[in-house]
Parts: sequence; structure tokens; C-alpha cells
Amino acid sequence: MLVSGTGTNLRALLDAAGAPDYPARVAVVISNRRSAGALDIARAHGVPAIALPVGDFGGSLEARDAAIRDALLAAEVRLVVCAGYDRVLTAPVLDAFPDAILNVHPSLLPAFAGGMHAVEDALAFGAKVSGCTVQLLEPGEPDGGPVVLQAAVPVEEDDDAESLRMRIHQQEWRILPEAVALFCSGRLRREGRRVRILPAETPARSSAQ
Ligand code: GRF
Repeated sequence: MLVSGTGTNLRALLDAAGAPDYPARVAVVISNRRSAGALDIARAHGVPAIALPVGDFGGSLEARDAAIRDALLAAEVRLVVCAGYDRVLTAPVLDAFPDAILNVHPSLLPAFAGGMHAVEDALAFGAKVSGCTVQLLEPGEPDGGPVVLQAAVPVEEDDDAESLRMRIHQQEWRILPEAVALFCSGRLRREGRRVRILPAETPARSSAQ
């Protein structure tokens, strides 16, 4: 898992993974920030936690991302999850995990794509509905990958960024573990820009593995 912030989505995933029938576990947590609270959550759960700030790589994003790739491969991960990771991933990671990187974004994409201010942007725009999206990450437009799951969240009259973010977060904590479970059960099949969710009773080989 790649993180930069507080790690509430990591916590949700760890909670889900605690269930005996959950088809995934968190193998390693990597951050571009030493101070990320998510690293503390990982350590508290006995999950290896690694900080790889770009400053340790002479400012080279590609060199840092090569180190991220190597750490992910060493942990034998099959799926990379970005949750609040605040840097654009470069070729070393993208090329190593084609159709196997999930990203969670706090808006109904393609609305309010890009950047870390989607909740504020939805409020500033006057949107009546926002929400969250889990998508496959791919090279090109940030937040432009195919959608795996979305959840809508109404914007209430008295919402501020904090209250809206909290309700969006609650939906993220539901759909991110669900998307990871679908992926790891072989129930996601990418068909161009569309990601088909296969029925549970007929698991088929997924092109996203
Ligand atoms: C989430 O809202 C996610 O959609 C966005 O960053 C936030 C991360 O929160 N990309 P947390 O670190 O998982 O609490």
C-alpha cells in the first residue's frame, strides 16, 4: 500500500483483512513521507512500514519509484493500493504493475480530478452530490484510469470541507476494501475503459492480475 497521510483507508483495509474469509492481506506499507501517520498504523499492526522520501534519491522521482517497485516486488505483492498517496507514480512502478494498481479519490470521477483538494473543489463548485471513486491507475492523466467502484455522497446544506470529507471517507472505507477483495478474488475484468465485476459464483481469470 502507498500512503502519504493519516492512513484511515489503510486502517479500513487492515480491519477488513482481519476477517478469516477476506482474500487479501497488507504485505507492506510505503510512504513518501517519514511523518505519515499511516506508517505508525502499519507498524502497530505488525506490517512492514517503509519511508522512501525523494530527498533520499537526489530528488529523482524515477529513482525513488524504482526503490518503491523493488520494495513491492520484495514483498511479493500482487496488487498495489494507493490511498492518499500524494505523488504521481512514474514508470518504474506503473510498468511493474500493469492493471494492478488501485487508487482511491474523494470525488465521483471525472469530476474534481487531480490534486488533493477534491472535497474543497466540490464545495466551491456548489455540487449537490459528490462521493468517491476507486479506479485502476494507469499512465497518463492523473485520476483518468478506468473506474472500479464509486459511491455517491450528498452534499448537505451546512457541509464544510471537514464534514463532507468525513462522510466521503466513510464510503471510501467501504468501497476500497470491497474493490481489493474483488481484485484478489479474480472478479475484475477490464474491457477497455470499463471494468466488469464478475459474479461471485463464476470466478474467471482476470486480465487485471
Ligand atoms: C482519501 O480521502 C483519499 O481519497 C485521498 O486521500 C485521502 C487519504 O486518507 N486520495 P487516509 O490517509 O486514508 O486517511
